Order: sequence, then structure tokens, then C-alpha cells
Amino acid sequence: MELRGKSVLVTGATGGLGQAIARRLRAEGCELTLTGRRADLLEPLAKDVNGTALVADLSTSDDVDRVAAACAEVDILVANAGVPGNGPLEEYTVEQLDRVLDVNLRSPIVLTRLIGERMLERGHGHVVFISSLSGKTTTPVTSLYNATKFGLRGFALALRSDWVPRGVGVSCVNPGPIAGAGMFHDGGATLPAGVKPRTPEDVAAAVVRAVVHNKAEIDVADLATRAGATLALLAPQTAARLGKFVGADKVAYHLAEAHKDKR
Ligand SMILES: NC(=O)c1ccc[n+]([C@@H]2O[C@H](COP(=O)([O-])OP(=O)(O)OC[C@H]3O[C@@H](n4cnc5c(N)ncnc54)[C@H](OP(=O)(O)O)[C@@H]3O)[C@@H](O)[C@H]2O)c1
Repeated sequence: MELRGKSVLVTGATGGLGQAIARRLRAEGCELTLTGRRADLLEPLAKDVNGTALVADLSTSDDVDRVAAACAEVDILVANAGVPGNGPLEEYTVEQLDRVLDVNLRSPIVLTRLIGERMLERGHGHVVFISSLSGKTTTPVTSLYNATKFGLRGFALALRSDWVPRGVGVSCVNPGPIAGAGMFHDGGATLPAGVKPRTPEDVAAAVVRAVVHNKAEIDVADLATRAGATLALLAPQTAARLGKFVGADKVAYHLAEAHKDKR
């Protein structure tokens, strides 16, 4: 799909990756609608990219419906909003756990169902899900996050077989650790030696590539991290042992502690 002049909804635009995605799509000539809860960040960003700000809490079904109604005619949905959802499951209340599922999994699925309706009628459109390499590989104390990201990736790949023949592209962008801004960066963890993080701009470039070339999946990570994720699909227990050996477990425990206030 050619991007110039297309209307795009980007959820989670106030975050590290969302801001980069919004700016890149604007540079490609898109007309943007941006969501987030923090109006103090969202409104200046929307002004900067000549877009529309929609303050919304995607853990509530009313706000998801309101965003879908306001954006029913968009050409492209980038479902990016997400929360870390990490830490031991047994520390979560059911209310906290529901919030992770609602933001990371329910809201992208419902937005796709509602906004996808017109895309299918027109026989034209694209949905990009920002999943994660945590949709392919697991670490300790990330069970809930893994559940949402494996779920989102499975949803995207299956939906792609249904919708691509009807003219609507579906892509999954899977970032590994991203430096400079975003939830990994905010967690302040040190990566294992030899792992090179990517940037929010790399994720934004992957979103553009996914839409322009109608890609099924794009992993945004260095070779070693992508190789680890591929091994995890083939031999999850071996990959988990290797992850522990190279220090990925330590990173996961560190982030779970650092993200406690985001539950
Ligand atoms: N950064 C990484 O290394 C990395 C790696 C793999 C995957 N990802 C994925 O990339 C996506 C973006 O993450 P990020 O790194 O940019 O994280 P971030 O900086 O923490 O941003 C998260 C975004 O989600 C929004 N959000 C959170 N809870 C929300 C809610 N209840 N309702 C509406 N919006 C909500 C936040 O907006 P408000 O706070 O304004 O509501 C913010 O815009 C996520 O899906 C994440 O899982 C990130």
C-alpha cells in the first residue's frame, strides 16, 4: 500500500515506540489520529504531526468502542498500546491481570473487528500489531506478557489468511529490546554482553515496511536475539536454558521489579 494521504490510527502514541511510529508515518504523508491516556503528552504530539488526539483508556470497553467509532473509516490501524504485564502471576490481583489482557490483547482485537469492517467492505486497508519477540520466546516472570504477545501474534497470523485474500493486509511487528525510549528503556536493565538493542525509529521503519510490502511478520532485533527467538519456536526448553545461561533471566527479573508501578 502507498502511504501518502492514508488515514492512520496509532494507539499508544504517547509511548516511546508510538511517538516514533507517529512521526515516521507523518513523514510518509499520513493523516494521523493518535491515542493515549496522558493528554499532556498526546495533545502536543498530535499538534506536532498535524494529527488528531483522542484521549482514551483502552482497558475500558467504552473507550475502545469510542475510539473505533471515531476511526471507523481509517485506512490503517497500528495497534501499539501495551503494558509490561510482568512480575510473578501470583502477585497480580484479578483486576490488574484483566487490565493487562484488556490493553494488550482485547483492545487490539476489538479495534480490528470494528475498524476492519469498513476495510473489508472497501477491499482495502491494513492492520499492524506491535507484538514482541515475547510472542515467540519466554522468560521467567513474564507469563502474562507472553500470553498477550503470543496471543496477539497468533491472532495476527491467522487473521492474515482470512483478510489478505479480501484486500486487507495484516502484519505483526515483533520488537526485541529497544533502547532510547519505551518500556524496556524505562526499565533501565543492562542487556547481556553481545546483544545490541534496536531503536524506536527501527520499529517505525518496520511498520512502514510491513504496510508498504504487506509483510506477515517483521522481527526488530539483532541477529543473536532473532536466532534465540527462532530456537525458542523449535525447542522452547533448550532456548529457556540458553537464555538463563546468557543472562536473559536477570534482565527479566530486573524489569519486573522496575515496572511494578505499571501493574
Ligand atoms: N520497548 C520495547 O523494548 C518493546 C519491545 C517489544 C515490544 N514492545 C511493545 O511495543 C508497544 C509500545 O511499547 P513502548 O515501549 O512504547 O511502551 P511505553 O513507552 O510504556 O508506551 C506504552 C503506550 O501504551 C499506552 N497505554 C498503556 N496503558 C494504556 C491504557 N490503559 N489505555 C490506553 N493506552 C495505554 C501508553 O499511553 P498512556 O500511558 O498515555 O495511556 C503508551 O502510549 C507495546 O505493545 C509493547 O509491548 C516494546
